[in-house]
Amino acid sequence: MEPILRASRLRKHYGTGTGLVRAVDEVDLDVASGEAVGIIGPSGCGKSTLLHLLGALDRPDGGWLWLGGERIDRLSETAAARLRRRSIGFVFQAFHLVDELTARENVELPALLAGASPRAARRRATALLERVGLADRAGHLPAMLSGGQRQRVAVARALVNDPALLLADEPTGNLDTAATSEVLRLFDDLRAEGRTLVIVTHDSRIAAAADRLITMRDGAFVDETILRRPSGNPSFGYAIRHGSTDDDSGLGSGLGDDFGLPDAPGLGHGDGSGSGRDSGFGSGHGFGLGAISGLV
Ligand SMILES: Nc1ncnc2c1ncn2[C@@H]1O[C@H](COP(=O)(O)OP(=O)(O)OP(=O)(O)O)[C@@H](O)[C@H]1O
Ligand SMILES: [Mg+2]
Repeated sequence: MEPILRASRLRKHYGTGTGLVRAVDEVDLDVASGEAVGIIGPSGCGKSTLLHLLGALDRPDGGWLWLGGERIDRLSETAAARLRRRSIGFVFQAFHLVDELTARENVELPALLAGASPRAARRRATALLERVGLADRAGHLPAMLSGGQRQRVAVARALVNDPALLLADEPTGNLDTAATSEVLRLFDDLRAEGRTLVIVTHDSRIAAAADRLITMRDGAFVDETILRRPSGNPSFGYAIRHGSTDDDSGLGSGLGDDFGLPDAPGLGHGDGSGSGRDSGFGSGHGFGLGAISGLV
Protein backbone atom coordinates (compact mmCIF):
# COMPACT_ATOMS: atom_id res chain seq x y z
CA MET A 1 0.00 0.00 0.00
CA GLU A 2 1.28 3.45 -0.85
CA PRO A 3 2.19 5.35 2.30
CA ILE A 4 0.24 8.54 2.83
CA LEU A 5 3.38 10.19 4.17
CA ARG A 6 6.86 9.38 2.95
CA ALA A 7 10.15 10.99 3.91
CA SER A 8 13.37 10.01 2.22
CA ARG A 9 16.79 11.13 3.49
CA LEU A 10 15.14 14.12 5.10
CA ARG A 11 17.70 16.53 6.52
CA LYS A 12 17.72 19.70 8.59
CA HIS A 13 20.98 20.99 10.01
CA TYR A 14 21.58 24.15 12.02
CA GLY A 15 24.80 26.12 12.36
CA THR A 16 28.17 25.37 10.80
CA GLY A 17 31.61 24.02 11.71
CA THR A 18 31.95 23.05 15.35
CA GLY A 19 28.49 24.54 15.98
CA LEU A 20 26.82 22.22 13.47
CA VAL A 21 23.69 20.55 14.84
CA ARG A 22 22.31 17.66 12.81
CA ALA A 23 18.75 18.15 14.06
CA VAL A 24 17.31 15.79 11.43
CA ASP A 25 19.91 13.69 9.69
CA GLU A 26 18.90 11.72 6.61
CA VAL A 27 15.67 10.33 8.05
CA ASP A 28 13.54 7.85 6.09
CA LEU A 29 9.96 7.34 7.18
CA ASP A 30 6.86 5.80 5.63
CA VAL A 31 3.52 6.24 7.36
CA ALA A 32 0.59 4.21 6.05
CA SER A 33 -2.89 5.66 5.90
CA GLY A 34 -4.55 4.86 9.22
CA GLU A 35 -1.28 4.24 11.00
CA ALA A 36 -0.37 5.87 14.33
CA VAL A 37 3.35 6.48 14.75
CA GLY A 38 4.88 7.59 18.05
CA ILE A 39 8.29 9.24 18.08
CA ILE A 40 10.20 9.32 21.35
CA GLY A 41 13.72 10.32 22.28
CA PRO A 42 15.71 12.59 24.56
CA SER A 43 15.43 16.37 24.57
CA GLY A 44 17.21 17.90 21.62
CA CYS A 45 17.26 14.74 19.49
CA GLY A 46 15.27 16.43 16.72
CA LYS A 47 11.68 15.33 17.30
CA SER A 48 10.08 18.75 16.91
CA THR A 49 12.29 19.64 13.98
CA LEU A 50 11.21 16.45 12.24
CA LEU A 51 7.54 17.05 12.97
CA HIS A 52 7.77 20.58 11.59
CA LEU A 53 9.30 19.23 8.41
CA LEU A 54 6.61 16.54 8.10
CA GLY A 55 3.89 19.16 8.54
CA ALA A 56 5.40 21.60 6.01
CA LEU A 57 5.90 24.16 8.76
CA ASP A 58 9.58 24.19 7.96
CA ARG A 59 11.60 23.30 4.88
CA PRO A 60 14.23 20.56 4.85
CA ASP A 61 17.80 21.28 3.72
CA GLY A 62 17.81 18.02 1.84
CA GLY A 63 15.81 14.93 1.06
CA TRP A 64 12.31 14.37 -0.21
CA LEU A 65 8.89 14.43 1.36
CA TRP A 66 5.55 13.32 -0.06
CA LEU A 67 2.07 13.65 1.40
CA GLY A 68 -0.66 11.78 -0.42
CA GLY A 69 1.72 11.33 -3.34
CA GLU A 70 2.42 15.06 -3.63
CA ARG A 71 5.98 16.35 -3.22
CA ILE A 72 5.91 18.83 -0.33
CA ASP A 73 9.56 19.46 0.49
CA ARG A 74 10.03 22.40 -1.85
CA LEU A 75 6.71 24.18 -1.63
CA SER A 76 6.48 27.95 -1.60
CA GLU A 77 5.25 29.46 1.65
CA THR A 78 1.83 30.04 0.10
CA ALA A 79 1.56 26.51 -1.22
CA ALA A 80 2.71 25.09 2.13
CA ALA A 81 0.09 27.15 3.95
CA ARG A 82 -2.58 25.90 1.56
CA LEU A 83 -1.46 22.31 2.07
CA ARG A 84 -1.54 22.69 5.85
CA ARG A 85 -5.01 24.18 5.75
CA ARG A 86 -6.25 21.41 3.52
CA SER A 87 -4.59 18.31 4.83
CA ILE A 88 -2.78 18.61 8.16
CA GLY A 89 -4.00 19.03 11.73
CA PHE A 90 -1.56 20.13 14.45
CA VAL A 91 -1.70 19.72 18.21
CA PHE A 92 0.97 21.49 20.23
CA GLN A 93 2.20 21.20 23.80
CA ALA A 94 1.06 24.75 24.58
CA PHE A 95 -2.45 24.29 23.10
CA HIS A 96 -2.34 27.56 21.09
CA LEU A 97 -6.04 28.24 21.60
CA VAL A 98 -7.33 31.75 20.98
CA ASP A 99 -7.93 33.13 24.49
CA GLU A 100 -10.78 35.45 23.47
CA LEU A 101 -12.82 32.72 21.81
CA THR A 102 -14.94 30.05 23.46
CA ALA A 103 -14.11 26.38 23.08
CA ARG A 104 -16.72 26.06 20.33
CA GLU A 105 -15.51 29.18 18.51
CA ASN A 106 -11.93 27.91 18.65
CA VAL A 107 -13.00 24.70 16.99
CA GLU A 108 -15.20 26.47 14.44
CA LEU A 109 -12.58 28.94 13.37
CA PRO A 110 -10.50 26.73 11.06
CA ALA A 111 -13.66 25.48 9.38
CA LEU A 112 -14.80 29.05 8.77
CA LEU A 113 -11.36 30.00 7.44
CA ALA A 114 -11.57 27.05 5.06
CA GLY A 115 -14.86 28.34 3.70
CA ALA A 116 -17.46 26.36 5.63
CA SER A 117 -20.77 28.06 6.27
CA PRO A 118 -21.28 29.26 9.87
CA ARG A 119 -24.00 26.68 10.27
CA ALA A 120 -21.82 23.82 9.01
CA ALA A 121 -18.85 25.00 11.12
CA ARG A 122 -21.04 25.10 14.21
CA ARG A 123 -22.48 21.69 13.54
CA ARG A 124 -19.05 20.17 13.10
CA ALA A 125 -17.57 21.95 16.14
CA THR A 126 -20.46 20.85 18.32
CA ALA A 127 -20.07 17.24 17.21
CA LEU A 128 -16.32 17.29 17.79
CA LEU A 129 -16.62 18.83 21.24
CA GLU A 130 -19.04 16.10 22.07
CA ARG A 131 -16.58 13.60 20.60
CA VAL A 132 -13.82 14.81 22.97
CA GLY A 133 -16.18 14.84 25.94
CA LEU A 134 -16.59 18.59 26.24
CA ALA A 135 -20.13 19.23 25.02
CA ASP A 136 -20.91 20.91 28.34
CA ARG A 137 -17.90 23.24 28.08
CA ALA A 138 -18.56 24.57 24.58
CA GLY A 139 -19.27 28.10 25.82
CA HIS A 140 -16.23 28.30 28.09
CA LEU A 141 -13.21 30.44 27.35
CA PRO A 142 -9.85 28.60 27.46
CA ALA A 143 -9.03 30.29 30.78
CA MET A 144 -12.05 28.54 32.30
CA LEU A 145 -10.83 25.10 31.21
CA SER A 146 -8.30 22.73 32.73
CA GLY A 147 -5.15 21.89 30.81
CA GLY A 148 -6.52 18.53 29.73
CA GLN A 149 -9.75 20.14 28.57
CA ARG A 150 -7.85 22.80 26.62
CA GLN A 151 -5.84 20.13 24.88
CA ARG A 152 -8.99 18.22 24.01
CA VAL A 153 -10.38 21.42 22.47
CA ALA A 154 -7.13 21.72 20.52
CA VAL A 155 -7.56 18.15 19.27
CA ALA A 156 -11.13 18.91 18.20
CA ARG A 157 -9.88 22.00 16.38
CA ALA A 158 -7.17 19.98 14.63
CA LEU A 159 -9.84 17.56 13.38
CA VAL A 160 -12.44 20.07 12.24
CA ASN A 161 -11.40 20.01 8.59
CA ASP A 162 -10.89 16.25 8.60
CA PRO A 163 -7.15 16.34 7.84
CA ALA A 164 -5.39 13.46 6.14
CA LEU A 165 -2.65 13.66 8.76
CA LEU A 166 -2.74 14.65 12.43
CA LEU A 167 0.58 15.73 13.95
CA ALA A 168 1.04 16.23 17.68
CA ASP A 169 4.15 17.61 19.39
CA GLU A 170 4.28 16.73 23.10
CA PRO A 171 0.50 16.92 23.42
CA THR A 172 0.73 15.93 27.09
CA GLY A 173 3.84 17.96 27.89
CA ASN A 174 1.99 20.59 29.92
CA LEU A 175 -0.43 18.24 31.62
CA ASP A 176 -0.60 16.53 34.99
CA THR A 177 -0.96 12.77 35.25
CA ALA A 178 -4.76 12.64 35.19
CA ALA A 179 -5.02 15.02 32.23
CA THR A 180 -2.26 13.12 30.44
CA SER A 181 -4.31 9.94 30.75
CA GLU A 182 -7.39 11.73 29.35
CA VAL A 183 -5.52 13.02 26.33
CA LEU A 184 -3.71 9.74 25.72
CA ARG A 185 -7.04 7.95 25.81
CA LEU A 186 -8.36 10.38 23.21
CA PHE A 187 -5.40 9.75 20.93
CA ASP A 188 -5.84 6.02 21.45
CA ASP A 189 -9.46 6.39 20.30
CA LEU A 190 -8.32 8.34 17.25
CA ARG A 191 -5.84 5.57 16.46
CA ALA A 192 -8.53 2.94 16.81
CA GLU A 193 -10.73 4.96 14.42
CA GLY A 194 -7.98 4.72 11.85
CA ARG A 195 -6.73 8.30 11.93
CA THR A 196 -3.25 8.76 10.54
CA LEU A 197 -1.22 10.13 13.45
CA VAL A 198 2.36 11.11 14.17
CA ILE A 199 2.83 11.90 17.85
CA VAL A 200 6.08 13.21 19.27
CA THR A 201 6.62 12.87 23.00
CA HIS A 202 8.99 12.29 25.88
CA ASP A 203 6.37 10.08 27.44
CA SER A 204 6.75 6.37 26.76
CA ARG A 205 3.07 5.94 27.69
CA ILE A 206 2.29 7.40 24.28
CA ALA A 207 2.86 3.83 23.18
CA ALA A 208 -0.76 3.31 24.14
CA ALA A 209 -1.74 5.43 21.17
CA ALA A 210 0.82 4.15 18.66
CA ASP A 211 0.91 1.28 16.22
CA ARG A 212 4.63 1.82 15.87
CA LEU A 213 7.06 3.51 18.21
CA ILE A 214 10.24 5.04 16.82
CA THR A 215 13.14 6.13 19.00
CA MET A 216 15.20 9.05 17.79
CA ARG A 217 18.69 10.07 18.85
CA ASP A 218 20.94 12.78 17.44
CA GLY A 219 18.67 13.44 14.49
CA ALA A 220 18.30 9.82 13.42
CA PHE A 221 16.03 6.85 14.05
CA VAL A 222 17.79 4.29 16.21
CA ASP A 223 15.04 1.86 17.12
CA GLU A 224 11.56 0.88 16.06
CA THR A 225 8.90 -1.15 17.85
CA ILE A 226 5.80 -2.45 16.13
CA LEU A 227 3.00 -2.47 18.69
CA ARG A 228 0.04 -3.52 16.62
CA ARG A 229 -1.44 -3.59 13.19
CA PRO A 230 -2.64 -0.13 12.14
CA SER A 231 -6.27 0.74 12.79
CA GLY A 232 -6.36 -1.20 16.01
CA ASN A 233 -6.79 -4.84 15.12
CA PRO A 234 -6.37 -6.25 18.62
CA SER A 235 -5.89 -9.79 17.37
CA PHE A 236 -2.60 -8.68 15.89
CA GLY A 237 -1.15 -8.86 19.37
CA TYR A 238 2.11 -7.32 20.36
CA ALA A 239 5.36 -7.66 18.55
CA ILE A 240 8.72 -6.02 18.79
CA ARG A 241 11.03 -5.69 15.90
CA HIS A 242 14.30 -3.89 16.33
CA GLY A 243 16.39 -2.40 13.67
CA SER A 244 14.20 -2.81 10.65
CA THR A 245 11.19 -1.50 8.90
CA ASP A 246 8.72 -3.32 6.77
CA ASP A 247 9.93 -2.36 3.42
CA ASP A 248 7.52 -3.41 0.76
CA SER A 249 7.80 0.12 -0.56
CA GLY A 250 11.42 0.06 -1.58
CA LEU A 251 12.03 3.18 0.46
CA GLY A 252 12.30 1.90 4.03
CA SER A 253 14.45 3.55 6.63
CA GLY A 254 17.43 1.32 6.19
CA LEU A 255 17.75 0.82 9.92
CA GLY A 256 18.32 -2.87 9.38
CA ASP A 257 21.39 -2.09 7.36
CA ASP A 258 22.67 0.41 9.86
CA PHE A 259 22.44 -2.04 12.71
CA GLY A 260 23.16 -5.22 10.90
CA LEU A 261 19.95 -6.75 12.20
CA PRO A 262 17.72 -8.88 10.05
CA ASP A 263 13.98 -8.48 9.90
CA ALA A 264 12.33 -10.55 12.58
CA PRO A 265 10.24 -13.20 10.85
CA GLY A 266 6.51 -12.82 10.71
CA LEU A 267 6.36 -9.33 12.11
CA GLY A 268 5.56 -6.03 10.56
CA HIS A 269 2.41 -4.55 9.23
CA GLY A 270 1.81 -6.34 6.03
CA ASP A 271 -0.61 -4.40 3.95
CA GLY A 272 -3.89 -5.83 5.09
CA SER A 273 -4.86 -3.26 7.65
CA GLY A 274 -8.37 -3.70 6.33
CA SER A 275 -10.31 -1.43 8.58
CA GLY A 276 -8.19 1.64 7.83
CA ARG A 277 -10.40 4.64 7.42
CA ASP A 278 -9.92 6.33 4.10
CA SER A 279 -9.51 9.91 5.14
CA GLY A 280 -10.27 11.11 1.64
CA PHE A 281 -6.93 12.77 1.09
CA GLY A 282 -7.26 16.08 -0.59
CA SER A 283 -10.88 16.54 0.24
CA GLY A 284 -11.97 19.06 2.77
CA HIS A 285 -9.88 21.97 3.93
CA GLY A 286 -7.38 22.20 6.72
CA PHE A 287 -6.02 24.70 9.15
CA GLY A 288 -2.34 25.29 9.42
CA LEU A 289 -0.11 26.99 11.92
CA GLY A 290 0.02 30.00 9.63
CA ALA A 291 -3.60 30.63 10.28
CA ILE A 292 -3.23 29.99 14.01
CA SER A 293 -0.19 32.17 14.39
CA GLY A 294 -1.92 34.94 12.52
CA LEU A 295 -4.55 34.98 15.23
CA VAL A 296 -2.68 34.50 18.49
N1 LIG B 1 16.08 27.29 14.94
C1 LIG B 1 17.13 26.58 15.43
N2 LIG B 1 18.37 27.07 15.34
C2 LIG B 1 19.44 26.37 15.80
N3 LIG B 1 19.33 25.15 16.37
C3 LIG B 1 18.11 24.63 16.48
C4 LIG B 1 16.94 25.30 16.02
N4 LIG B 1 15.86 24.52 16.28
C5 LIG B 1 16.33 23.42 16.87
N5 LIG B 1 17.68 23.47 16.99
C6 LIG B 1 18.54 22.44 17.56
O1 LIG B 1 18.22 21.23 16.90
C7 LIG B 1 18.24 20.14 17.82
C8 LIG B 1 16.89 19.45 17.78
O2 LIG B 1 15.90 20.31 18.35
P1 LIG B 1 14.39 19.86 18.52
O3 LIG B 1 13.64 21.02 19.04
O4 LIG B 1 13.94 19.26 17.26
O5 LIG B 1 14.54 18.73 19.64
P2 LIG B 1 13.40 17.90 20.39
O6 LIG B 1 13.75 16.47 20.24
O7 LIG B 1 12.07 18.35 19.95
O8 LIG B 1 13.66 18.32 21.91
P3 LIG B 1 12.59 18.47 23.10
O9 LIG B 1 12.26 17.07 23.51
O10 LIG B 1 13.37 19.20 24.16
O11 LIG B 1 11.42 19.24 22.59
C9 LIG B 1 18.59 20.74 19.17
O12 LIG B 1 19.96 20.55 19.40
C10 LIG B 1 18.25 22.19 19.02
O13 LIG B 1 19.06 22.97 19.84
MG1 LIG C 1 10.47 19.30 20.90
